[in-house]
Amino acid sequence: MKVTVVGAGAVGASCAEYIAIKDFASEVVLIDIKEGFAEGKAMDLMQTASLNSFDTKITGTTNDYSKTAGSDVAVITSGIPRKPGMTREELISTNAGIVKSVAENLIKHSPNVIIIVVSNPMDTMTYLAHQATGLPKNRIIGMGGALDSARFKYRLSEALGCPASDVDGMVIGGHSDTGMIPLTRLATRNSVPVSEFLDNDKMEYVKAETKVGGATLTKLLGTSAWYAPGAAVSAMVQAIGCDTQKMFPCSCLLEGEYGLTDICIGVPAIIGKNGIEKIVEIDLNDAEKTNLEESAAAVRKTNGLI
Ligand code: 2OP
Repeated sequence: MKVTVVGAGAVGASCAEYIAIKDFASEVVLIDIKEGFAEGKAMDLMQTASLNSFDTKITGTTNDYSKTAGSDVAVITSGIPRKPGMTREELISTNAGIVKSVAENLIKHSPNVIIIVVSNPMDTMTYLAHQATGLPKNRIIGMGGALDSARFKYRLSEALGCPASDVDGMVIGGHSDTGMIPLTRLATRNSVPVSEFLDNDKMEYVKAETKVGGATLTKLLGTSAWYAPGAAVSAMVQAIGCDTQKMFPCSCLLEGEYGLTDICIGVPAIIGKNGIEKIVEIDLNDAEKTNLEESAAAVRKTNGLI
């Protein structure tokens, strides 16, 4: 399996590292516009191969898309990250042009590629990738919900005082500080609803902290996070590469599902060798449905800026 990661910054390089350590891909190509940067990151990562016992070959290139030819999956992380106090939506004027040209370059050299979009504002960038490439809807996926759900599980495990491995939970909706929807009603601790352990105030706290999980880290780090985003998107690449049929909340182009059309927004989907194998329509209660509609309205507003 050949994977291209566009953008050798912190998220892209973390994604490449996690893919290599999981050792399911034969090759990862890191590509960046900064002279020598992707080559340097690739070489540094390859020097961990004997230490981390992986055989995946990581190479780097400065903006030569011919080196990405024949990729099965391409991850788009390129563009500017947010600074403290910024929303993801404020990145659109810079990132839209970058994502459009990257997507066009990718399909020129890899006509069968499955694209995973990470660049923000992610739901709108995913929609833009559809417009720019015309790829079938199953072959463009936005990564946001997998990351937000990981942060949700982190906050739940903190509130419950238990390992994150004991917790399950999913975040749907837009990947934005206000638009994401942590589904506390469905979250469990080892198959027991978390409402058995947490009162309403605690649940609201977990939801609130989840929604600003990215912004909290941007404040602490001075830039966007990278370990969890890199790990989240590498898990989706693995689901495609190994055809695991795992279910992730991810940004999919909806054509009537959840009563929404012509929008990319986070919903549960089965991910396998064909990319989005199936969008899963779960029963939402009235409040969750209203939240999703409001979240979609906000994403549509940002879509109007591209
Ligand atoms: C985040 O939430 C970068 O949007 C990503 O950290």
